[in-house]
Amino acid sequence: MSVQAEEEQVAPAARVAGAQGVAPAAGLTSAPDAAIDQALGKLDSTQLRDEYVDQGSFLYLSDFLPRDATQRLIDAANALMPEVNRNFIPGHKAGGSVSRHTIDRLQPYIAELYRSPKLIAWLEKITGDRLQLSPEDDPHAYALYYYTRAGDHIGWHYDTSYYDGRRYTVLLGVIDESSCILDYELHTRDDSKPDEPGAVQYPPGALVLFDGDKLRHRVTPSREGEVRVSLTFEYVTNPNMRPWRRFISNMKDAIAYFGFRQVFRKALQSARVGGGKAGGSV
Ligand SMILES: [Fe+2]
Repeated sequence: MSVQAEEEQVAPAARVAGAQGVAPAAGLTSAPDAAIDQALGKLDSTQLRDEYVDQGSFLYLSDFLPRDATQRLIDAANALMPEVNRNFIPGHKAGGSVSRHTIDRLQPYIAELYRSPKLIAWLEKITGDRLQLSPEDDPHAYALYYYTRAGDHIGWHYDTSYYDGRRYTVLLGVIDESSCILDYELHTRDDSKPDEPGAVQYPPGALVLFDGDKLRHRVTPSREGEVRVSLTFEYVTNPNMRPWRRFISNMKDAIAYFGFRQVFRKALQSARVGGGKAGGSV
């Protein structure tokens, strides 16, 4: 298959709702741990753990983040529009991405939310695993995905772990002025259960959690004039990655998401300062 990478910048979309960068007051629930505290207050985590297990390591919550935390994500996503790296893989994927490296530089609130001890403790309760942050040089550790042009989508895939352990994906809805749907199939890798299709159009503040190697999923194409931005967090159970897998992972990230400059410059920097591990996967 011929693979093309299209790298260009996306013009800022001032029309997007909530585009004005309103700095929230300090100490409100948008402070990451406080926001997660508020989110968890209305949930029955024991019941959700059962639901997650029944669904083959998948959970969807249509209303997770408090409104002011969601608004901070919307503001961040709009502020990062000029940083979007566009990519196109014929027959599989079209869209834009902003990596954790750019987020670290320009919108550190997202990184703080990713590292929220309360969020991680809750995810551990739901998944039943001890979770670790993805390594510093993994551009997918936290990243924004942008659908801003007609036909932006991603075809059926798993979020394959190139790490020695499991890789969990959290998706948070940020902007959804689109008809895009997250289609998924549960139990595809469990011979004891029939495949079970499902679909969600997750709105701002919604959460999707799954084991990347277990959930087959896709996002359907956007139409002209639509905008959709989602935030992904990636947690792992073992951050070690073997060199050949690191190479494959880096190539995928460079072509399918963030561009060669972002991926390999960071990987080389990490190697120079002490053998960091690269990651991320489609
Ligand atoms: Fe995915």
